[in-house]
Amino acid sequence: MVETSLLLVLLATLADMQLTEIDHIAIAVNDLEAAISYYGEAFGAEVHHREIVDSDGVEEALIKVADSYIQLTAATRPDSPIAKYLEKRGEGLHHVGYRVDDCAAALAQMIEAGATPIDVAPRPGSRGTTVAFVHPKGSFGTLIELVQE
Ligand code: CO
Repeated sequence: MVETSLLLVLLATLADMQLTEIDHIAIAVNDLEAAISYYGEAFGAEVHHREIVDSDGVEEALIKVADSYIQLTAATRPDSPIAKYLEKRGEGLHHVGYRVDDCAAALAQMIEAGATPIDVAPRPGSRGTTVAFVHPKGSFGTLIELVQE
């Protein structure tokens, strides 16, 4: 049957849906305390989780919004990637964290679709998550972090 073979071709070309939620939107800031105060005054927002991630040279303050977070992110040392970003581009949107069920599978599917990985394999992130970063080049100018809880 023509209809059946067309359907099979269509199913074969569709990749699995990997996204389950926006995990977080990361904003690079120079002064974490000032940013936390501002979000408190402007939105009544409280910090839900705070963590220094030594390997990345960042300190994060997470503000919960429904099932997602705003991740205020500051540098803990001058040679960290976020410090270089702040120096070059200034404060602002840094990356979007997409929540996925399986970080390795999502990363493999992104690479298959032409993405340029920064992390070639999933690694530990904050909050006990497993993460992988994908370069803005090849992802329409957005630094993407895959986050598996
Ligand atoms: Co992040």
